[in-house]
Amino acid sequence: MKKIEEYVRSIPDFPEPGIIFRDVTSILQDADGLKLAIDSMQDCLKDVDVDVIVGTESRGFIFGMPIAYNLHKPFVPVRKKGKLPCETISASYDLEYGKAEIEIHKDAIKPGQKVVIIDDLIATGGTVEAAAKLIEQLGGEVVKIVFLMELAGLEGRKKLEKYDVASVIRYE
Ligand code: PRP
Ligand code: ADE
Repeated sequence: MKKIEEYVRSIPDFPEPGIIFRDVTSILQDADGLKLAIDSMQDCLKDVDVDVIVGTESRGFIFGMPIAYNLHKPFVPVRKKGKLPCETISASYDLEYGKAEIEIHKDAIKPGQKVVIIDDLIATGGTVEAAAKLIEQLGGEVVKIVFLMELAGLEGRKKLEKYDVASVIRYE
């Protein structure tokens, strides 16, 4: 049986020179790779008491939704600016390449709810740090953050020091 890391395709110099892009499509297009990725991420939640799963657009949706479905929990999308139709709160942050702004519906998290954030990858940690701040602004408690891949060299975990963070694949 193949290991999960063997399903990841790495593309040098995408989308900019110097970046090694860790591609999830090569995992998703293989049924065994897809199952292994979801199961490995979900294993990180074995002992976690959770009310809501949050996924960040767009690759966080791919992995967050099946986990929410499997655990029979609600799924809340954190979207890029301008996509959510109701009242939102938003946060801006820096990425490995570029800048972004994300939003969440104000009524998506109730005060006191225990929230798990799911994303495919941590690079600088900016995306999930911003998502966690939005969740906390709404009164939610971030009880765990799960990534499929971690680019450890970018030290994104430093931004998430106060959280319980797990990753399945670590790149130095
Ligand atoms: C990628 C990735 C993470 C984020 C990681 O998303 O899916 O969400 O960047 O980077 P960070 O740790 O430096 O914040 P991207 O914004 O490229 O959007 P996409 O999922 O729609 O491709
Ligand atoms: N998002 C930010 N940095 C990335 C990388 N190196 N590969 C894939 N997605 C990313």
